[in-house]
Amino acid sequence: MAEAARAPLPEGKAERYAALRAEIAAVIAGEPNRIARYATASSLLAAAFPDRFFWTGFYLVDEAKGDELVVGPYQGTLGCLRIPFGKGVCGAAAAQRQTIIVPDVSAFPGHIACDSRSKSEIVIPVFDKSGALAAVVDVDSTQFNAFDQIDQAGLEAICGELLTRD
Ligand code: SME
Repeated sequence: MAEAARAPLPEGKAERYAALRAEIAAVIAGEPNRIARYATASSLLAAAFPDRFFWTGFYLVDEAKGDELVVGPYQGTLGCLRIPFGKGVCGAAAAQRQTIIVPDVSAFPGHIACDSRSKSEIVIPVFDKSGALAAVVDVDSTQFNAFDQIDQAGLEAICGELLTRD
């Protein structure tokens, strides 16, 4: 059983992200399917931070539309299915191709409230090996101001492991 073989995660946040990065890389090694990689990452991330990560998942660039995100693998309550580029935090991160941390979602113009319990969030872009945007990772918390630079660095490093090879 894979679960029984997993080592306990470190207590420190940066150390926990480093261990997660190694674990995700090991599990997805050799797996060419991007949905399999994203599903693995969302599961391991959500399980690693159960107190802070209320919704953890991916919005994929819809290749057919080009300027719209469509929901991908996630852990959490029901998420909205589609987000146009530029709309909400996910759409803004996709349009800007950079990480956005929002300490209080009620203060973010155009925030999309899929679940009113979400109070803060971080969204990180995921690029493919050619540098094109493939997806964004969206992590929402029920606490205000739940995410900082350590989360950004840890999640951006993990997103680098998810480079699309298919
Ligand atoms: N928080 C997002 C919407 C997606 S859900 O919360 C799952 C946003 O405003 O981009």
